[in-house]
Parts: sequence; structure tokens; C-alpha cells
Amino acid sequence: MDKDAYHRPVMVREIVALLVRREGLYVDGTLGGGGHSLAILQALRDRSFERGSFLIGIDQDRNAIEEAEKKLAAYRATAKLVRGNFREIASVVNSLRESCRISKPVAGILLDLGVSSFQIDTPERGFSYLRPGPLDMRMAPDGDKRAEDIVNKLDERELAEILFRFGEEQKSRKIAGAICAWRREKGTITDTQDLAAIVRNVVRGKDPQIKSLARVFQALRIAVNDETGALENALREGAGMLAPLGRMAVISYHSIEDRMVKRFFREIAADDWGPKGVALREPLQRANFRVVTGKPLTATKEEIDENSRARSAKLRVIEKK
Ligand SMILES: C[S@@+](CC[C@H](N)C(=O)[O-])C[C@H]1O[C@@H](n2cnc3c(N)ncnc32)[C@H](O)[C@@H]1O
Repeated sequence: MDKDAYHRPVMVREIVALLVRREGLYVDGTLGGGGHSLAILQALRDRSFERGSFLIGIDQDRNAIEEAEKKLAAYRATAKLVRGNFREIASVVNSLRESCRISKPVAGILLDLGVSSFQIDTPERGFSYLRPGPLDMRMAPDGDKRAEDIVNKLDERELAEILFRFGEEQKSRKIAGAICAWRREKGTITDTQDLAAIVRNVVRGKDPQIKSLARVFQALRIAVNDETGALENALREGAGMLAPLGRMAVISYHSIEDRMVKRFFREIAADDWGPKGVALREPLQRANFRVVTGKPLTATKEEIDENSRARSAKLRVIEKK
């Protein structure tokens, strides 16, 4: 397999520059094919931080762990890869800290959200509207809820709510209605192509169809994997784990995630001025964090030309004071 065939990591230069600044423990919460982790480990070596550093890579997909194990084989002594959900990033890291006797302070955390190219391009995983496959969409293949369960078991109102909330799909009600009509007429919807056909019947025109298909599949994927719930927890636990001057970097690919990251970073980087209307000279409490990236960083044109996935990437970084 060529080096980026599993997944081509985005904004690697930016991640290395903003994240790898000192010795310590680095946590890659979204290991994928290990591209970012490899770049972090290489940078730690190049900067002579390797002896005082360690990397923990987490992914909920065992394929990712297997792939990254190969890519990071040269770094066995300084990296440990583990299957787990970043929703529980603190307990995953703490139990490894104990079993591997790692006492280093947490210097950097990376979350590169969403799915890998390998996951999208594997038809049996059911993530893509372009490929026939089962309506699955679980990132952890042993997860108990599939997209099929949502599409076939929820009522029209609940379905519309998911398509609107997680896909920001304006035709959510019509599409939910069409899904329920199909179920009544033809039975269970099991294939990505049946769902795609339903969406195409509701939305006319090639461009609007493509956008709605992307939004509907995104919404189901987010719901199946409870991506927003996992992110919310990981942000809070991750920030709580950082040592002074440690940084957390998050790359998001759609506005729902980016908004969550932006709001959370703003909230923890704000001084506490007490209740509104009370004039204070000093804040009740100074914030323990500093936002490093006022506006999110985006990929360069050159990178986007080479990797279309980088087009929607937004990188935000926060630092513990
Ligand atoms: C965009 S890819 C990461 C690619 C990686 N940065 C690289 O260089 O190859 C996202 C990865 O995060 C994993 N993932 C998504 N949500 C997760 C979660 N809640 N817990 C653990 N892994 C998760 C996915 O399984 C996928 O492999």
C-alpha cells in the first residue's frame, strides 16, 4: 500500500508547527492511518525531544490501529496505539499511563475529526452514497447501532430532526417523509443506494442532489456514532488533561463540529467577570487557557489542489496557560 493510500493526513505542517513545541506526552485521539502521529513522532525526533516524550494513539476502528501499527513500526519504543473512543480520552490515557508507567505531562492532544478515506472508500462500511453497500456507518465495527436502525426504526419527525440537526438539510422533512413512504410501500431500507435513490427523488438538480446526499449521509453518520456527544466530552476531558503550555489541536470538517470547538475554546479562554451588570475591576477568575488560533486555520491552496479533502478542514488550537 502506498504511504498515504489508507488516508492522506491534512494540514500536517500546521499541526507539527503548532503542536510539537516541547517534550511530553502527545495524544492522537484520531489515529486513522497514523499519518499525523508519524509526523509528530518525526518532529519530536528532529527536535531532540524524543527521549522525554511519548505518543498515545487512539482509534475506535481496529483497522486503523492495524494500519497505524505498520506505519509507526519504527517508533515502538515511544508510541503505544490502543483501540478506544476519544469520548473517554482521560480514562483511556490514564489507564495506559499506569500500565506503561508514563509520567510525562500532557504536552499535546490532536483530534482530526470524522472518518478516514479508507472508511469512506470501503463499500461494506456503508459511509458513501457513491458506493452500494449496507446502511451501516459504524466507525467501531462492534458498535450496537447501525444507520439501518435509524433509517428504518425512527418515526418521520425523529428522522427529520436528525437530518436537520446533524446535516443542516433544509429538505429534512420532505426526505424523512419519503423515507417513511418507501418503508410503507417496499419494506426495510438496507442499502446505501436505496437511500440515495429516495433523496434523489425528493431533491431535483445535480448539484442540489449531491449536496443533500452528502448532508443526509453525514447526518446519519453523526447520529450512528454519537459524534457530537463524543466530541463534547473529549474537548472537556482533553482540556482538563493538558499540562501548562500544553496544546490541544482540533481539525473539523463541517460547521456543526467547528462551531462546537469554537464555542468551547472561547468559553474556557474567557475570564470570569461574574454576573452581568456587576461592575468589577478584576475578573473573579482569570481563564486558564489561551486561544492560539483566533480564526481557524485552513489548508493552503497547494494542499487543496493535491487533496480535495483538505478543502473543508478547519484547524483550531488552544493552549493551557
Ligand atoms: C480523519 S480520520 C484521522 C486520520 C489521521 N489523522 C491520519 O493521519 O491518518 C478520523 C479517525 O478518527 C477515528 N474516530 C472518529 N471518532 C472517534 C472517536 N470518537 N474515538 C476514537 N476514534 C475516532 C475514525 O475511526 C478515523 O479513523
